[in-house]
Amino acid sequence: MSHAGPHAAGGDRLRVGVLGAAGQVGRCLVRSIEAAPDLELAFAATRAEIDLADPSAIEPWLERFSVLPEVVLNAAGFTKVDACESQVALARQMNAEMPGAWARALAARGIGFVHLSTDYVFPGDGTRPYREDDPTGPRSVYGETKLAGEARVRESDPSALVVRTSWVFGPGRNFVVAILDQAMKRRTGEATGPLRVVDDQQGCPTAAADLADGLLALARLRAQGRSDVRGLLHLCNAGVTTWFGFARAILDQAGHGEIGIEPVATGSFATAAQRPAYSVLDCERARKLGVSLRPWTEALTGYLAGPDRPSSLIAAGSPAGASSASPSAMPSASSSEPVRRKVSQ
Ligand SMILES: NC(=O)c1ccc[n+]([C@@H]2O[C@H](COP(=O)([O-])OP(=O)(O)OC[C@H]3O[C@@H](n4cnc5c(N)ncnc54)[C@H](OP(=O)(O)O)[C@@H]3O)[C@@H](O)[C@H]2O)c1
Repeated sequence: MSHAGPHAAGGDRLRVGVLGAAGQVGRCLVRSIEAAPDLELAFAATRAEIDLADPSAIEPWLERFSVLPEVVLNAAGFTKVDACESQVALARQMNAEMPGAWARALAARGIGFVHLSTDYVFPGDGTRPYREDDPTGPRSVYGETKLAGEARVRESDPSALVVRTSWVFGPGRNFVVAILDQAMKRRTGEATGPLRVVDDQQGCPTAAADLADGLLALARLRAQGRSDVRGLLHLCNAGVTTWFGFARAILDQAGHGEIGIEPVATGSFATAAQRPAYSVLDCERARKLGVSLRPWTEALTGYLAGPDRPSSLIAAGSPAGASSASPSAMPSASSSEPVRRKVSQ
């Protein structure tokens, strides 16, 4: 998916490079950049073109381009929260070392860097939304390595922007798809009984498309010389819910309102990684910079009606207006597996 080239100079357009361009956020970034008249996609790096876990690949990658981006957005990471617990070295490499190495290489060339981090850097015992300067305390290897990545990036390039977000849904495998998959299995009789979804973890669902647009708005501000667009920033869709509340809204909006769903405690499912019970992010700082995202319920409606919608899993005649599902198009994951374990973060 490399769109770059030696003749990629775009006049007044801001040249943007994307790392992790095949992921949920990465794909939305590429789409938004390509649609924006004031932006130019300098490169879109996927795993097929570069192994980001290999720091020696950075220099040759950058040397391929005679016209470099002015800013690089990093949407790559090892995001499988449970897998990070057993693949610690890879988690450290991808989530901590890689972002630091890129920030260093780009800073040496005067290229800006926007890096994504997570709500899972927080311990989850908070009682009000977490602000950027609240004490961290990750409870998982994923959260720990992402926190180390924040530090590496900021040490390597003090002008870098590190954006923490949460509960992302976009093109690809995510919680929305996992819930709809389970709903469809119940409709076809492949699975029975109510869905069981955790109701004691609170957070902010965030549409990858909205996040991508917010990140690009921040990149534009930086390009306009706003020196305060640096350091840590929280950015997610507005509103707070639990995984159960999120699942209920997904089922209702996708025309599966009749599917039973039961709230359960985190302890009901054994997962390799611990998740914070409360990881709501306070997005006031971003709002003051002029960037805020709509309520997550509206973002969900947009997702279910938009280009990334999992059409085959949406009921015919539902508010999302989808056509009926074709059983052959349905994923084959085991229905007995807890829904929470199938999503990345
Ligand atoms: N998803 C969430 O709920 C969530 C919440 C908070 C923060 N975040 C952060 O937001 C960012 C984007 O998340 P996302 O949901 O868009 O993640 P994603 O869909 O998992 O995308 C990550 C991308 O990184 C790529 N990647 C991983 N290892 C690579 C390697 N060695 N070489 C090249 N590419 C590699 C992946 O490629 P493959 O697909 O080939 O592995 C994937 O395309 C991440 O930094 C994540 O930590 C996500």
